[in-house]
Amino acid sequence: MGTNKEKTGMRGARPDQQPRIWDVPTRVFHWTLVILVAWEWASSHLGHGFMRYHMWGGYAVLTLILFRVSWGFVGSETARFAQFLRSPRNTWGYIRSWGKESHHHIHGHNPLGGWAVIAFLVTLTIQVGTGLFATDDVLTAGPLNALVGGRMGDLLTAIHKGNFDILLALVVSHVIAVILHRVIAGHDLVRPMITGRAARPVPGAISPRAFARPWVSVAALALSGLGTWLILQI
Ligand code: HEM
Ligand code: HEM
Repeated sequence: MGTNKEKTGMRGARPDQQPRIWDVPTRVFHWTLVILVAWEWASSHLGHGFMRYHMWGGYAVLTLILFRVSWGFVGSETARFAQFLRSPRNTWGYIRSWGKESHHHIHGHNPLGGWAVIAFLVTLTIQVGTGLFATDDVLTAGPLNALVGGRMGDLLTAIHKGNFDILLALVVSHVIAVILHRVIAGHDLVRPMITGRAARPVPGAISPRAFARPWVSVAALALSGLGTWLILQI
């Protein structure tokens, strides 16, 4: 039996009842990604003068992807792939537990959210990967466009444009899922992604050692930047 506060989403709960669940790098990654994806969309429609900045934004997204993949291995517990990736059977079991008490008692990504992370990373990789080879056939060409023939360049440009709609569909369903959690289950997922703290108690203790040291994130980001630079040297 939970307290009333638990049932109402713990507004005003004491800090010790709101344990840290998201580390700073994961949160900065998320909101920077949101801004950059919006910028990539806007800059691709602002005319030729903005394509240079569209490409810069794309390199920043590439660095974020490399960072998030490495963070999935060396980052804090809730950011690690091994912690949130579950088998399809397990994920189905989670979906079927909707409405039951056990359903929302998960710290970090739930099994469905875990697969959403992978879907985002794959779609973003396709977006950036094809962008590197894309061309508008007028003034702008991605840095690797010269490596492929005109036809292949056109195909990759078409995929670049088409894949953006898939990315958009993912974003829309992502935001709808967040709203449904709020409206139906009364759980605010957004505030934890901003403050890092769960809005209510979570099962099991979260050890302070579950959080990676800051220098690990700095090293991962530096290596990711280096990775982007190396890819651009191809
Ligand atoms: C371009 C738009 C967006 C993209 C590409 C995106 C992508 C992502 C990704 C990749 C994650 C996983 C975080 C990680 O573990 O690294 C995530 C989580 C999350 N996002 Fe977004 N997001 C977008 C927009 C938004 C918006 C507008 C909101 C607010 C309504 C939001 C709220 C959240 C929340 C609350 C989580 C954590 C979910 C959980 O508790 O498991 N996102 N998002
Ligand atoms: C997340 C990253 C990215 C997103 C969301 C994105 C999005 C888009 C979108 C929506 C368009 C189509 C605009 C239209 O309909 O005319 C576009 C065009 C283009 N993008 Fe990207 N892009 C990204 C990354 C990149 C990168 C990394 C490069 C190259 C370095 C790039 C190069 C181009 C080029 C050259 C075009 C022009 C294609 C044309 O107008 O025919 N993009 N991008």
